[in-house]
Amino acid sequence: MKITYLGQNGFLFDLNGKKLLSDPFISPNPLAKAINVDDITCDYMLITHGHADHVADAESIAKRSEATVISNYEIVEWFGKKDIKGHPMNHGGKWNFDFGTVKYVNAIHSSVLPDGSYGGNPGGFVIWNDEISMYMAGDTALTMDMKLIPMTCPNLEVAILPIGDNFTMGVDDALIASDFIECTKIIGCHFDTFGYIEINKEEAIEKFKAAGKELILMEVGESVEL
Ligand code: NI
Ligand code: MN
Repeated sequence: MKITYLGQNGFLFDLNGKKLLSDPFISPNPLAKAINVDDITCDYMLITHGHADHVADAESIAKRSEATVISNYEIVEWFGKKDIKGHPMNHGGKWNFDFGTVKYVNAIHSSVLPDGSYGGNPGGFVIWNDEISMYMAGDTALTMDMKLIPMTCPNLEVAILPIGDNFTMGVDDALIASDFIECTKIIGCHFDTFGYIEINKEEAIEKFKAAGKELILMEVGESVEL
């Protein structure tokens, strides 16, 4: 699986020949100014919750790509009114897509759409197929519910966790989260985009290393193969 970081919680995954895009926040993000939104296409779009820093470019990319939005029921309904296809889910449910299985899991956060519409309850995704199993937490606090993931899903190869603090978990709580989900390879997200969430990257990487884990902090635009 190839993963490209697009900033904040935006990632592009090449999975089983399908392109999955998460939470696109590109055109308003100064850290992503080298990325042209018009170059991005996807087959599916994963939306964790309704906040603007997760949906800013969702409508334009989904329409141009004729992508299917995978999110909670309320967010899928909202995009449906804009003539965007969707697959609605809710917490604890899973579905077999053509690229793999997706389970929509709990997050502790809030969710309102940019126009003030109700955005349902925020969530994260566990995605797996024959090749990979990964968890994208979305914006969330550290929560005991994370312990349910290794009990109910295949062993995680990698997890994408927010580490910027203030609006989500910070580095120390993300390290505890990596224990809860029993995963040693973590990709950090939701940091440095604005002042409230600026972090000391070297210190964060060292904290994970000291615990025998790997924290990968990708540059915006960078790709890794997993
Ligand atoms: Ni949020
Ligand atoms: Mn956010």
